[in-house]
Amino acid sequence: MTQENLKFIHLTDTHMNAAGKQDGLFSKVHMADNVRKVFKHAKESGVKPAFVLITGDLSHEGDSADYAYIRTVLDECSELIGAPVHVVLGNHDHRGPFREGYLMESSSEEPYFYSFMYDGLRLIGLNTQIPGSHSGELDERQLGWLEAQLKEPAPQGTIVGIHHPVLAIEGMPGDHLLKNRGRFGDLIAGTDVIGVMAGHVHSNNVGTFRGICAVAASGTAFAGELADQDNYAMINAISYNVVSVNAGEGITVRTVEIPTAREELVRFPISLLAAQH
Ligand SMILES: [Fe+2]
Ligand SMILES: [Fe+2]
Repeated sequence: MTQENLKFIHLTDTHMNAAGKQDGLFSKVHMADNVRKVFKHAKESGVKPAFVLITGDLSHEGDSADYAYIRTVLDECSELIGAPVHVVLGNHDHRGPFREGYLMESSSEEPYFYSFMYDGLRLIGLNTQIPGSHSGELDERQLGWLEAQLKEPAPQGTIVGIHHPVLAIEGMPGDHLLKNRGRFGDLIAGTDVIGVMAGHVHSNNVGTFRGICAVAASGTAFAGELADQDNYAMINAISYNVVSVNAGEGITVRTVEIPTAREELVRFPISLLAAQH
């Protein structure tokens, strides 16, 4: 009998808000239903993840009631798939309401970051979101904490979850990237980190960063595509990634598309992109 590899599910950019609160463009898509579809699909296709990682933009400018709703949706999903769900914050998230509504603790602007271990695989979630800005970076406190964590390697390596990616997408303005990715790269190069999972760009983008597999997943809310040289389009699309950890060798990333009509929701100039992710 062959032993199954350790797996986890990576999804991102769920942009959920409490029922009836999605407006404008976002009213065309039921964001929470998209997330439910992902978990149902993963369950029915027999994926047995050790955990699920959601890399930010959980909500679209949500308040504490939105985060309480998101917690209810994700608790249901977690129960369905039989695995814990871990989240990081994105530029459309807000720390205070997240802490109140999702973590059920008192409101604070403290960055949300953590480390968990699953069968020898370490998951580190970091907060790249800067309150009041669409840009992302890691603050000194988290960089110091990360360096200390990585001094001790994990048996199956470490996965880092962040919102802002470290790899540029051709044709897309560069300000979507993690600003201090140079410092971050210096810290993780030569450590046990085997994968950096991100979101924000609503587009699947996989490459290497300092020799480490770096992934930006597409998202469950919508996909973003370059429509032509000057314009960007948001497409009604849902996808998630199944990541297998091949002990001592690396990771495999398999993208799963949930069938949709893929209709174009909106098209706008690339120059306006920074405000839209
Ligand atoms: Fe984002
Ligand atoms: Fe987003």
